[in-house]
Amino acid sequence: MPLHFHDCAPVFADFHHSVLDGLSAHPKQIAPKFFYDEVGSKIFDAICDQPEYYVPTVERSIYETHADDILASIGADGCHLIEPGAGSSVKVRFVLDRARPAMYVPMDISAEHLRASAQRLAREYPALTVHAVCVDHTQPYTLPAEIPMPRRVFFYPGSSLGNFDPGEAIRFLRDLRTKAGDDGRLLIGIDTKKPAEVLNLAYNDPAGVTAAFNLNLLERLRKELASDIDLDRFEHRAFYNERLGRIEMHLVSREDQRVRVNGNSFDFQAGESIHTENSYKYTPDEFRQLAWDAGWAGEKVWLDERKYFSVHLLRTR
Ligand code: AVI
Repeated sequence: MPLHFHDCAPVFADFHHSVLDGLSAHPKQIAPKFFYDEVGSKIFDAICDQPEYYVPTVERSIYETHADDILASIGADGCHLIEPGAGSSVKVRFVLDRARPAMYVPMDISAEHLRASAQRLAREYPALTVHAVCVDHTQPYTLPAEIPMPRRVFFYPGSSLGNFDPGEAIRFLRDLRTKAGDDGRLLIGIDTKKPAEVLNLAYNDPAGVTAAFNLNLLERLRKELASDIDLDRFEHRAFYNERLGRIEMHLVSREDQRVRVNGNSFDFQAGESIHTENSYKYTPDEFRQLAWDAGWAGEKVWLDERKYFSVHLLRTR
């Protein structure tokens, strides 16, 4: 069973200091990476089951509908397939079920999660060489030397790039460009611009799962930072900011109040918010331009019939 585990000892972001800094800032903010504790990750999985949150189903349908074309275009047989933030390595199965990459490199910050899912993959695809790399792919890192340079194909699905501001997105894509080498490719899922009603509903599902996901950040404050914050005094707000082309998520104070976090006090006015996430949406042309600025040339793009989601294949330029 050719499974190799590389522990690059990722340093976890400091929740305590980030929260104190973020609540002292104007406007107040907490970074979206803090959504994903154990509870938050489970709630995110539940978001993906909400019919209004079209992202996972539409993206999957694109991979299924265009599998042959995508696999031929990326040169799947014999490639070195690298997935930053692979999680449970679910989406990549459309490749592994149909082709024979020479190597699969799942990368994830959670060692436990990564080890379990890499072991599962190695069992299910015995011919596949797996190099699991435990790393925070949003921070500077070096890939292990065992991953050959030619024929590197990066896979970054789920529109995760949308959670970076455009400047961060370019820096991230540039870093992948350097790591991909001169014959490298990137297969990436990007959520598109679409009518505001569709986007607003996707981030305000009627079952309240996205609201619970957002509010879980405050629960983390209570549990982990000895805060007296009362979740009932805040509400979830998500809306499409058409000018900036992004969904914004906020936690809005329902009243004037003072909140204590680890001995520090923070005052909120009624209606004041903590900005918790941006999710940028790109037309295919806008994304191609962004990628070009980061050293990638657009090779192909696949969309669903309604053009709700795009999967781009880029090559280094
Ligand atoms: C993970 N990321 C791509 C999701 C998004 O759509 O921006 C996170 C999310 N936030 C609320 N719903 C989903």
